[in-house]
Amino acid sequence: MAEIAPSILAADFANLQRDVEMLNASTAGYIHVDIMDGMFVPNISFGLPVCEAIYRHAQKPLDVHLMIEQPDRYLEAFRNAGAATLTVHYEACPHLHRTIQHIKELGALPGVALNPHTPVEVLSEILGDVSLVLIMSVNPGFGGQKFIENTYKKIAKLNDLREKFGYTFKIEVDGGVNLGNAPLLVREGVDILVAGSFVFSSADPIKTIEDLRNS
Ligand code: DX5
Ligand code: ZN
Repeated sequence: MAEIAPSILAADFANLQRDVEMLNASTAGYIHVDIMDGMFVPNISFGLPVCEAIYRHAQKPLDVHLMIEQPDRYLEAFRNAGAATLTVHYEACPHLHRTIQHIKELGALPGVALNPHTPVEVLSEILGDVSLVLIMSVNPGFGGQKFIENTYKKIAKLNDLREKFGYTFKIEVDGGVNLGNAPLLVREGVDILVAGSFVFSSADPIKTIEDLRNS
């Protein structure tokens, strides 16, 4: 059984309130909020006012995924815009330890994300300080991309490290998640499945969320 974090990136932006209310009525554990700056990733998604608007209607914690350069500049603002979890990219943080401490001081749960080419071993000295490790299973920037198969191996390695050292962080996977790969991801140790297009393009998103949860 996994927790599901539907990605609002795949929602109908002209009907955000309706889609947030649909997620409220579902068994989703979180609402995943993708922030893209057109610099760290090639795409621009949306920013603070939209995050705040989602928060106003959300009855689930906001899992905010910052795909931005120099995320330290915006941590407090996204915390004030409703983020319960703030996830930064390892690749965007030269002083990751300081960034993680800052997120904790703001009262949010700290997460760190890894791009597909970044090995999990680079996190060995910070794993005891984070609440969440997000493994990207596509190159960040766009919804609807194809799942990268090497992800299974990374999840298994990270899960081994967690067991070996008794860490308590959750493992989240993001990109191209569907009912075909979800069971194997959960078997390898994933706790939270992010799913965007698979949920929002399905005929019955509430049922799809529940089916993913039962993976
Ligand atoms: C990709 C984002 C993902 C995206 C997932 O850069 O971080 O959260 O919304 O979308 P799907 O599930 O469609 O791959
Ligand atoms: Zn994401």
